[in-house]
Amino acid sequence: MEVERKQSVILVPCPYQGHLTPMLQLGNILHSQGFSVIVAHTRHNAPNYTNHPQFVFHSMDDGLQRIDMSFPSVETLYSMNENCKVHLRNYLAAMMEEEGNELACIIYDSVMFFVDDVATQLRVPTVVLYTFSAAFLHSIIMILQQPEKYFPFEDSQLMDPLPELHPLRYKDLPFYVVNNKIPEWDLEFHRATCDIGSSVAAIWNTMQDLEDSTLLRLQEHYKMPFFPIGPFHKMGPLDSLSSIFEEDNSCLEWLDKQAPNSVLYVSLGSLAMINDKELIETAWGLANSEQPFLWVIRPGSISGFQYAEALPDGYEEMVGERGRIVKWAPQKQVLAHPAVGGFYTHCGWNSTVESICEQVPMICRPFIADQLVNARYLSQIYKVGFEIEVIERTVIEKTIRKLMLSEEGENVKKRVVDMKQNIVAAMEIDGTSHKNLKDLVDFISALPS
Ligand code: UDX
Repeated sequence: MEVERKQSVILVPCPYQGHLTPMLQLGNILHSQGFSVIVAHTRHNAPNYTNHPQFVFHSMDDGLQRIDMSFPSVETLYSMNENCKVHLRNYLAAMMEEEGNELACIIYDSVMFFVDDVATQLRVPTVVLYTFSAAFLHSIIMILQQPEKYFPFEDSQLMDPLPELHPLRYKDLPFYVVNNKIPEWDLEFHRATCDIGSSVAAIWNTMQDLEDSTLLRLQEHYKMPFFPIGPFHKMGPLDSLSSIFEEDNSCLEWLDKQAPNSVLYVSLGSLAMINDKELIETAWGLANSEQPFLWVIRPGSISGFQYAEALPDGYEEMVGERGRIVKWAPQKQVLAHPAVGGFYTHCGWNSTVESICEQVPMICRPFIADQLVNARYLSQIYKVGFEIEVIERTVIEKTIRKLMLSEEGENVKKRVVDMKQNIVAAMEIDGTSHKNLKDLVDFISALPS
């Protein structure tokens, strides 16, 4: 039964799919706990209001011409932070003058760091949301403390381990590395996102049991309460329909016709771009593996092409019914489908959590930032995936076969089943995520309004 709490929370998401989705999921969770939820979003990539009738929406002018669906530039992120300031300040100020206003706090994506400045001036408490793993933030903080220890490095060091950042190597340093150096602006940007100002707590889409020691270390650093209440998409009463792109549900019917655990699902998330050479190597790797596959090729995700024009001539006819290519899939449903037996992924944190929750083992092909850290944890620590380091058709083919058909692959599958069971336990009454959610609700309710 829903509790009538009357208090409201304002959520400020970052307008990219991998950030918007968990923020809206958090909104669902908090709404089901009796809070009124206001979503203050940028004008671009606004959520579809009709999918979330339970929320109040407020649009902020981000001052941008457009938001590209590729890795956002630091300039774009800074502009967004700068341009939304006045708008949020005016909105908040007007709200605070309203009679009976019971605003408990503002919850903001760590990338939208302007929120804390604005809210602090108006004495509204802020809570930061981390949409990535604790392991990623921990590695960033360690590196920011001594960047000169890691950069620049030599080519010969690429595969050398970094014991204090185990299991990362120089190759996996989660920054924008150019010629083995880190540009000063990237360091500055990370400093800005790690500076949580006067925020009073942090919410995580992760599980305490999974990242306990890292969360503790981060908590010592930040000295504030942490609420790991993941997996968000399973903790709310309903999962939000939050796709910026149109989902092609026809692939579910195709999956219905496939044998259990036989299909490799291939998707590189909402931002990653590949070149035509990688497209072709992946295409042949998939075809030669002889496993059924469902492949998401996002329009605009192949550099220099509108869509998938660079696929080998007659490719789709050649693979026939064994392969299916779509522009965007209902990913959570796909991963939950009994036919899906593996996930070739860029290791975005949402995809990682969604895959573990459906006990689907992974082939890890990370691109940048947290994906590099997630890929190492998945392959080296949790051992629920194999990492692909050379994008070459024979390597891809062999890795697919290893995952889907070998004894090694079966062991990986067993471990992901164990991980899933631990997550289920965390969500049960007395499980850590369940308990942390209760604590979060009490914490927000007790904030001075
Ligand atoms: C980005 C970063 O790349 C990621 O590393 C970070 O953790 C969050 O922001 P993105 O690259 O899009 O996100 O990856 P991911 O975090 O995996 O989020 C993608 C979301 O899109 C997932 O929730 C996934 O279910 C959804 N998706 C993806 C679909 O619904 N359909 C698809 O076809 C592909």
